Amino acid sequence: MKFVALLIPFAILLSMVKGQLVPAMFIFGDSIVDVGNNNDLVTLVKANFPPYGRDFAHHEPTGRFCNGKLAIDIIAEGLGFTDHQPAYMSDKANGEMLLIGVNFASAASGYYNATAILYNLYELGARRIGVTTLPPLGCLPAAITAFGHGSNQCVARLNNNAISFNNKLNHRSQRLKRRFSKLKLVVLDIYSALYTIITKPDENGFAEVRRACCGTGLLETSILCNQHSIGTCSNASQYVFWDSFHPTEAANKILATNLSNSGSSLIQP
Ligand SMILES: *[C@@H]1O[C@H](CO)[C@@H](O)[C@H](O)[C@H]1NC(C)=O
Ligand SMILES: *[C@@H]1O[C@H](CO)[C@@H](O)[C@H](O)[C@H]1NC(C)=O
Ligand SMILES: *[C@@H]1O[C@H](CO)[C@@H](O)[C@H](O)[C@H]1NC(C)=O
Repeated sequence: MKFVALLIPFAILLSMVKGQLVPAMFIFGDSIVDVGNNNDLVTLVKANFPPYGRDFAHHEPTGRFCNGKLAIDIIAEGLGFTDHQPAYMSDKANGEMLLIGVNFASAASGYYNATAILYNLYELGARRIGVTTLPPLGCLPAAITAFGHGSNQCVARLNNNAISFNNKLNHRSQRLKRRFSKLKLVVLDIYSALYTIITKPDENGFAEVRRACCGTGLLETSILCNQHSIGTCSNASQYVFWDSFHPTEAANKILATNLSNSGSSLIQP
């Protein structure tokens, strides 16, 4: 069996046939790709209440840190999946549903050792792996609020940290590819994709890059972004950020297109 993996930081897919371009997709990562694994865990980092999910199917909060779909949902649709990969911790993750893969992502899982994960996935049989870089952390609204010293600009120090992590990720990926000739490994540059949206909002259809839609848009995420948050925008379609850490569905659409195009070699025979 051929596996395709997509790590955001960090996810996988695996391949064959059945309508979809790949038979299953396994997803690892943190809140950027979490579809609800934190719902039943004892944690404060959750998103299973309104207004999360207000633009999702049935206006339903699912645990996704977004008003609507995550980039990974949109990528999965592009690959032909009609159902979203269920959260591993949910009661949907059984029987037939498992045949399309599982989402293991959990919010606030932190940055684990990407190299170790890539090794483990390879040992388990993954031969096609997409791994995303870190996003421009210094441009997240919460980061600017907390570390921007009153400025409205991206925090250079945090962006530089992300760039340095991403450079290491690129080097290690090159090394892994040399070592395992059967491994198709693509580093997907979500940093540049998101940074371009933030620095050229008009060209990408956005009017607001600094304030997130939820609440004041400067700090709220998870439990602080709730139905009682004051100031939540009524239409998130021109906002890059939904809460102070996470992109809107509108931004995720652009990211998904960019990542799918960049990773197209992963689904070629
Ligand atoms: C990450 O994992 C790799 C491979 O197992 C190992 O060589 C490396 O020392 C680990 N790095 C850290 C910081 O733990
Ligand atoms: C993805 O976005 C980056 C940054 O804007 C751009 O340079 C690159 O060409 C895009 N890639 C694709 C395949 O669309
Ligand atoms: C949000 O605004 C866009 C245009 O900017 C519009 O197409 C869309 O229907 C609006 N969505 C809602 C839920 O009002």
